[in-house]
Amino acid sequence: MTASRMTLQAIRYVDGDLTIIDQLKLPFVEEYIPIRTAKEGWHAIKEMRVRGAPAIAIVAALALASELHQLATNNKLSAVAEEVRVFIVEKLHYLVTSRPTAVNLSDAAYKLEALVTERANTAGSAGHDIATVFIRAAENMMVKDVEDNKRIGQNGAQWILANALKSGASKTSILTHCNTGSLATSGYGTALGVIRSLASNNGLRHAYCTETRPYNQGSRLTAFELVHDGLPATLITDSMAAALLARTDADVNAIVVGADRVAANGDTANKIGTYGLAVLARYHGVKFLVAAPLTTIDLATKSGNEIIIEERPASEVTRIKGPSQKDDATGGLSLETINIAAKGINVWNPAFDITPATLIDGIITEVGVAEKDPSGHFHLDRLFP
Ligand code: MRU
Repeated sequence: MTASRMTLQAIRYVDGDLTIIDQLKLPFVEEYIPIRTAKEGWHAIKEMRVRGAPAIAIVAALALASELHQLATNNKLSAVAEEVRVFIVEKLHYLVTSRPTAVNLSDAAYKLEALVTERANTAGSAGHDIATVFIRAAENMMVKDVEDNKRIGQNGAQWILANALKSGASKTSILTHCNTGSLATSGYGTALGVIRSLASNNGLRHAYCTETRPYNQGSRLTAFELVHDGLPATLITDSMAAALLARTDADVNAIVVGADRVAANGDTANKIGTYGLAVLARYHGVKFLVAAPLTTIDLATKSGNEIIIEERPASEVTRIKGPSQKDDATGGLSLETINIAAKGINVWNPAFDITPATLIDGIITEVGVAEKDPSGHFHLDRLFP
């Protein structure tokens, strides 16, 4: 199936029918693949066919919702509430093992487990009630995520226009890292949502996106989204960021990134390379902002030291995938994987790094932008109802 030019959607779900765009093949091939079970969801997340903190939580929940839907349709769902609860909880615990750093996945699993447990403890509940309550909650996650992202976009755009513009200017240039857009969420995006919101308020001069080695979320996915939306944008390699910030003609006003987990003190785990950008921003006097929904803020984790950083296979660093030039010229398209490193070299491939709160000017959420108090501390607990 080919994705429509009008709607860029990483996740499509209708009544137990879940498909995701295969992000391993983007931007060269736009192919949707079915996810029918929790196991298929686990593999899609682990292999990064879907990625981005909110998107993996939503796909995990909807994969299990699809499995429950099918069991119910085929009359294979137990009539006993406790049996369905145990089935769901076991699958949730399994799904959480797919990727460790993004808190959205474990946060969703925890909330969904509490929901089905409460329902199972309600007198008179049957198996299908437990499945229904789970399926509805999973579906709602998808809807709420887009709403939250739109608010994050508005809040971030307002903050930047109020705090990051040079005097007399009305438009801003933003540098972003990794992919935080429609492909990393159920739509619109977090940091990329801020860029989208600036553009729709006539406040965006230019967007810069980093390549984001080794998985190339920036050159493959963010560049794809920026081109898709027709926004003024330029791709740079990760190593060009310092030179870009040093140029007065580029005039970058703010760096806006997403997050996989924000600790209670504001330390933020995000795509590898984020920390380096925050150091550069401080040196160059550029605002550094993290955009994330409340589901990414983990008050139970006190600081970045406690966050587990996922390490991924060496092959992501030593190989690269894309269509060959020859195929391009003939109009055909076959993806090839080529080696780009010396055989035998050791590789370290952490997927994320920690940016200390000291380097972060604001954390943009759906309920507002958190800033530090005069003594330099965030109070993120105040964002929660
Ligand atoms: O390894 P990935 O591609 O899942 O990492 C994604 C990021 O680091 C994003 O910045 C983060 O998840 C926020 S997505 C809205």
